[in-house]
Amino acid sequence: DRRPRVLSGIQPTAGSFHLGNYLGALRQWVNLQDSHDAFYMVVDLHAITIPQDPAELRASTRLAAAQLLAAGVDPDRCTLFLQSHVPEHAQLAWVMNCVTGFGEASRMTQFKDKSAKQGTEGTTVGLFTYPILQIADILLYHANQVPVGEDQRQHIEITRDVAERFNARFGRTFTIPEPYILKEAAKIYDLQDPTVKMSKSASSPKGIVSLLDEPKAAAKKIKSAVTDTGTEIRYDPEHKPGISNLLTIYSTLTDESVPVLEQRYADKGYGALKTDLAEAVTEWVEPFRARTQQYLDDPETLDAVLAKGADKARAVAAETLAEAYDRVGF
Ligand code: ADP
Ligand code: NA
Repeated sequence: DRRPRVLSGIQPTAGSFHLGNYLGALRQWVNLQDSHDAFYMVVDLHAITIPQDPAELRASTRLAAAQLLAAGVDPDRCTLFLQSHVPEHAQLAWVMNCVTGFGEASRMTQFKDKSAKQGTEGTTVGLFTYPILQIADILLYHANQVPVGEDQRQHIEITRDVAERFNARFGRTFTIPEPYILKEAAKIYDLQDPTVKMSKSASSPKGIVSLLDEPKAAAKKIKSAVTDTGTEIRYDPEHKPGISNLLTIYSTLTDESVPVLEQRYADKGYGALKTDLAEAVTEWVEPFRARTQQYLDDPETLDAVLAKGADKARAVAAETLAEAYDRVGF
């Protein structure tokens, strides 16, 4: 297989993924499956860096996997697995902990944001070393490319630094990954406040379309999206963030370009755009919900898919870990 290898992970979240996750990330996962040798995982090890309920974690991890499959991640065209099924992640992470500088790890900005939310006593060492587990995630598979948004760039930088340091000290072992900035990846904003990105931590559920929303509820959220008082349908994120966000969602979901949409709706007004987009979202959400439910209703099939994915992943991970262990003197 001479295709570049790509690795990407997503945290299981309580409840469903939202439209931002799909249009900004999962859709690209689906699109990369043929051009790349893709490894996709649900990063449940990362999920315990903050307090979790075991039953909820188990359920949300399965729900995440079911949604990935429903979104079009195809286990016959990629390697889909749960991180905790591949013990090599934790094993290589320990080695990487011992190659990473404390100061270097301290400079990771996401820790500062996340630990501020947990408070000093609530902050685990796992939250601090999370980027080092991520280093192991990437290096285990000799990933050439890691799809990232701008805010994740620092994580690729530290992965490259640590991998290069390991290679220099112990001999060439790891592939140095490149960030793969998703050019076509849309950034989706909150429907009620189009100046902030759509996020599961939104202040109101009205601003986010969850992928498992009742189709009617999803349509209602689109129709109630905040827009400016004008009438002109024009892509202008600075002056018309609400309309621009709807155009982005529409364009990404249906593969029609923004200029084509601008032209089609030029004389039709906001109402027509919202009605048609609501319909497009409903048409997407409906089968997505049904497919997700099929996997949840058939746990044996889901287990089998994930077990097969774990086997494929382990075949690669075990080899990399064995070499790394050998290099460090185990
Ligand atoms: P959230 O922001 O809701 O907490 P995550 O941080 O778990 O979501 O993100 C999971 C994936 O979805 C990441 O790849 C992230 O870049 C992408 N993503 C999240 N929100 C958006 C958004 N509003 N627009 C585009 N992509 C997004
Ligand atoms: Na986030």
